[in-house]
Amino acid sequence: MSVVLAFETSCDETGVAIVRDGREVIANVVASQIDVHREFGGVVPEIASRQHTRVISQLTDKVLRDAGMPAGEGIDAIAATIGPGLMGSLLVGVSFARALAYAWNKPFIPTHHIEGHLFSVFLAEEAPEFPFLALVVSGGHTQLIQCSAPHEYEILGTTRDDAVGESFDKVARLLDLPYPGGPSIQKASANGNPEAYDFPRAMREKGGLDFSYSGLKTAVLYTLQEAKGKANIADVAASFQAAAVDVLLIKTRQAIAQTGAQRLIVAGGVAANKLLRERLQGELGIPVFVPPFAYCIDNAAMIAAAADSRIRCGAALPVDTPPQAGMSLV
Ligand SMILES: Nc1ncnc2c1ncn2[C@@H]1O[C@H](COP(=O)(O)OP(=O)(O)OP(=O)(O)O)[C@@H](O)[C@H]1O
Ligand SMILES: [Mg+2]
Repeated sequence: MSVVLAFETSCDETGVAIVRDGREVIANVVASQIDVHREFGGVVPEIASRQHTRVISQLTDKVLRDAGMPAGEGIDAIAATIGPGLMGSLLVGVSFARALAYAWNKPFIPTHHIEGHLFSVFLAEEAPEFPFLALVVSGGHTQLIQCSAPHEYEILGTTRDDAVGESFDKVARLLDLPYPGGPSIQKASANGNPEAYDFPRAMREKGGLDFSYSGLKTAVLYTLQEAKGKANIADVAASFQAAAVDVLLIKTRQAIAQTGAQRLIVAGGVAANKLLRERLQGELGIPVFVPPFAYCIDNAAMIAAAADSRIRCGAALPVDTPPQAGMSLV
């Protein structure tokens, strides 16, 4: 049995959580900074790190109290996201977690953010067995990853430019929809016709399993310019969402054919997208595992789940691994 207290501060969410055995969330809080960054249309790194510093102590107190462990009794290990992410933000969580581990004489487990997203599926009631194919779709990543065993990964495809979540955010900005773009576009799409505009499905037949999303964003921009303010926003949003999701389906299908994968997991903020979930679960013919909605966007419970597995496998990263803004999973 292991109980992990984890911290996530790689971007604009401050997350603190306590998870038992990598599956059972005992307490979880996420303080989103969306309102602070909204007026800038995206995350301002300097403001993000200051905001993490402002709230991290209170959130930790709250999580410990919620878990009935006010003085940290029963905590076996402490984990924090070590990268990739914004350096200033990472430093806040890592330094705080390290200091606590030192004070309480507990092991510190440096944890990769994308590995956290992968392990968010183990927080669902029905969890997959290894091996599986993973589709990671977040604000900074669009990747197809072969996961042959815990912590054994092969990246099969990745984005050559924008990540899919980033394209939702950028297109939302073009459409004057609020940040973050994913939920706003999903909402606007509900009243739109997904076939109104035939936006490109980039690299449908080339580029192997790599993705490209910047052309789709540019196509939306040109459509809006041509319409001179008269475009139907709901139709543009729905057509964009259809194209963005379609590409994920096309490439995932190709990856399944190539690897013979028996099961798929989907993780990252865009895994919250209803159309994507429905299409993956309805069209691929293999079991598809998704995290609970609350654990799609950044949170610390997923970091605890990944750290727990690292402890269990005896595969924890060296305790003095420094925070890394651009940290590869493999
Ligand atoms: N319902 C949704 N539909 C589409 N996209 C969504 C939805 N909900 C959230 N997103 C997108 O998910 C992204 C945020 O996800 P996440 O928190 O996993 O990314 P990140 O942590 O910023 O990036 P990374 O994990 O790559 O470092 C944003 O781009 C947001 O627009
Ligand atoms: Mg993330």
